[in-house]
Amino acid sequence: MRSLRLPLRAICIASAISTALAATGGTFEEGGSTLVSAMMMFLGNDQSVYILDKAEGNAAQVLGHPAWGSVWDIKTRRAVVMDIKTNSFCASGMHLPNGSYVTFGGNDAVGQNGVAGSQKNPDGTGAWDSYYQDFDGRRAIRIVTPCTITDTLNSGPCAWYDEPTQLSLRRERWYSAAEATGEGEVVIIGGFVRGGFVNRWVPNVDPATSDGQADPTYEYYPPRSGEPRTFDFLIKTSGLNSYAHTYLMPSGRILVQANLSTTLWDHNTNVETPLPPMPKGVVRVYPASGATTMLPLTVANKYTPTLLFCGGSDMPEADYAPHP
Ligand SMILES: *[C@@H]1O[C@H](CO)[C@@H](O)[C@H](O)[C@H]1NC(C)=O
Ligand SMILES: *[C@@H]1O[C@H](CO)[C@@H](O)[C@H](O)[C@H]1NC(C)=O
Repeated sequence: MRSLRLPLRAICIASAISTALAATGGTFEEGGSTLVSAMMMFLGNDQSVYILDKAEGNAAQVLGHPAWGSVWDIKTRRAVVMDIKTNSFCASGMHLPNGSYVTFGGNDAVGQNGVAGSQKNPDGTGAWDSYYQDFDGRRAIRIVTPCTITDTLNSGPCAWYDEPTQLSLRRERWYSAAEATGEGEVVIIGGFVRGGFVNRWVPNVDPATSDGQADPTYEYYPPRSGEPRTFDFLIKTSGLNSYAHTYLMPSGRILVQANLSTTLWDHNTNVETPLPPMPKGVVRVYPASGATTMLPLTVANKYTPTLLFCGGSDMPEADYAPHP
């Protein structure tokens, strides 16, 4: 076994959707403390912003262990901790059609200083840690129904449902992408099993799985029958395809962008229509980490999607570090 632990440089920022706080455009205002780092956040309803961190030694405590989840109230700018059982480090997430929100995958269980949790899986990765009390999150499916900070948040209908023995992904997925399908499901794409950063060896002798450290398949929530199928695009973009950029198109196909490649993907038939490579050799996925968004769909533009890609890195492929 080669590398098990993600080095500190592998910091990930998941989808960030927040409401405009500052009254004046182009200005900043101090918004209070979120209690945990906003590695991932989403707007749950018109009052609450949900925040997920990775399992780490935050001062804020919940149920006798450091917290890595919170809810931040837009009006009062106050946050309340929430209990999350599994390590949500670099999970992905999506809204469900019924208003709940779901996050997928993450890292294995870690303890202080990021070492593998005190209780190990057979392969030496962390299953659970006695200090942080986090469980292995790589197959996690966590669901929350948005409430407000005055509700009871850590039990009952407002709590995170995070029970890996009851509900879990078919594969381990860290840094996967999650996109809504036209059928009202979420498709969960790729991800790392272990390792991280740029998940391929130099030379890249195993572009599909990087020696068992990457998963080039996709699966659904709610689950569809059958085993996860291989998505060839993830093999083509090997290594530079964590947190692939995904956008559902009016046709029901999904535009997927990673490394220098873009494809229009019919996930039902698993047929791709490749689009031209990214101009000027600019990579936008993690760790090149450009910003991308879909511009507003309006009556005036007849709901025609326009995607904007900003920033990234034009570093040559060979200059990305070899596998950690
Ligand atoms: C939405 O559906 C999920 C199952 O996919 C369920 O866990 C959740 O409780 C539902 N939310 C509401 C508000 O009914
Ligand atoms: C990007 O894709 C090319 C082929 O399209 C591949 O050779 C290369 O390994 C990929 N980059 C990384 C960092 O994996």
